[in-house]
Amino acid sequence: MGKTIVIGSDHGGFNLKAVFIKTLEEWGYNVEDEGPDGLDSCDYPMFAAKVANKVKEDDSKLGILICGTGQGMTMTANRMGVRAALCTNEFLAEMAREHNDARILCLGERVTGQGLALAILKKFLETEFGGDRHQRRIDLIDTVSK
Ligand code: RB5
Repeated sequence: MGKTIVIGSDHGGFNLKAVFIKTLEEWGYNVEDEGPDGLDSCDYPMFAAKVANKVKEDDSKLGILICGTGQGMTMTANRMGVRAALCTNEFLAEMAREHNDARILCLGERVTGQGLALAILKKFLETEFGGDRHQRRIDLIDTVSK
């Protein structure tokens, strides 16, 4: 079984979530869908919290959160203590993993087209954390925010 990816959205990110789930399964990932189940209007913090909690309790998992802009998902997940990065291009996705060890990729369905979103997803999943000086800096995030 491949790596597990936990995914969630709100109504604004629901369609891209569906595309991501199908693609992730084709790529061999195990996907845990935290909802929603349809396009009815809903509140992004509820789904951000579900994904952030699952990623927080299992180091082997990565998360994906999609709303209209990606902003609300990013704010909520980071407030919950999980490093989440809003990415609008592949370079940001690469750096979010390599330098920041981001555990959750955030995207805006109303911002990023499907083709680019899939390229961002691929880059995020295929890039490893660089460790070393980057680990020291990540540790300092916790230190300075206590
Ligand atoms: C919903 O209309 C929209 O506010 C939400 O999807 C997201 O963009 C919030 O950050």
